[in-house]
Amino acid sequence: ASTAATSVSISGDIGSQLHGGYFHPLSRSWQAERQLTKSMFIYPIFVTDRDDDMNLVPSLPGQYQLGLGRLVSFLEPLVRKGLRSVMLFGVPIRAGTKDALGSAADDPEGPVIQAIRLIRRRFPQMYICTDVCLCEYTSHGHCGILRDDGSLNNQLSVDRISDVAVAYAKAGAHCVAPSDMNDGRIRAIKLKLMEEGIAHKTTLMSYSAKFSGCLYGPFRDAAGSAPSFGDRKCYQLPPSGRGLARRAIVRDINEGADVIMVKPAGQYLDIISDAKDLGKDLPIAAYQVSGEYSMIHAAAKAGVFDLKAAAFEATESILRAGATIVVSYFTPQFLDWLEN
Ligand code: PBG
Ligand code: ZN
Repeated sequence: ASTAATSVSISGDIGSQLHGGYFHPLSRSWQAERQLTKSMFIYPIFVTDRDDDMNLVPSLPGQYQLGLGRLVSFLEPLVRKGLRSVMLFGVPIRAGTKDALGSAADDPEGPVIQAIRLIRRRFPQMYICTDVCLCEYTSHGHCGILRDDGSLNNQLSVDRISDVAVAYAKAGAHCVAPSDMNDGRIRAIKLKLMEEGIAHKTTLMSYSAKFSGCLYGPFRDAAGSAPSFGDRKCYQLPPSGRGLARRAIVRDINEGADVIMVKPAGQYLDIISDAKDLGKDLPIAAYQVSGEYSMIHAAAKAGVFDLKAAAFEATESILRAGATIVVSYFTPQFLDWLEN
């Protein structure tokens, strides 16, 4: 009774006092389950088949299409700042390169295979991921081989995509990441990697939950991969399809994926969380896609918010949802902004 005047009610008020846990920058950082570090970032790079290219992509602020002759000097300062990993995309610009089968995707003289070899030689510590798809190389711009009626021929597409993945891995890619969304491609790629005796040194990262929508526009400008007719709605997932995404994630885990990716990221944080839940024992990657990046830039330019603050908030939210790998066009800036 003598202390009653100064004590507070334990059942109510004490549990309501939270500020004590995060008044300091350090204790605020302790509130995160995962700390953002440089090693979580994969930087997408667009490599063309013209040596001297260094073309700014207007819809993707600050990002370039780069020729092989530009690659080393472009990457050098980033590697010095702590860049650990890139995701390579091939951009065939020379006339006559595209055909119905995407034959140029695994051309040994083509930009991706040449870039893998160059980066392996000049930056031996770099972890090289390659996007695996046909849309950059097909005359029709779709992510596989088509039937006469314009729909995907799944079997032919999977056969071809898995050949391309193996070609990239054999050229020295540490990670192959199929983004085409054909059914059964993860299993097909894993089996071919095993046949070739390189499954043990190739990470298979599946773009498992890849949604169709309006956020890939700037990328298609950069990669020259917009479909010439129709859209990708019959192979990329419908934005409201949470259950379908969960099924795709479970399927790809069962087919042998080493890493599961969710894409886009910011509008699909529930899916990232589902992926972490379904894939408790796998690393989860998220791709903050071109449209997300360009939106943040546009809003910052319009005075809505500060670019750096928005980039941190978006990226830390992706981590909070469950990802520990982030494919991001902000990578060079985070190398400046982060200490580790
Ligand atoms: C190719 C591919 C795309 C992206 C990654 N791989 C485009 C698409 O599917 O249309 C999008 C990346 C981005 O928007 O930044 N299949
Ligand atoms: Zn594609």
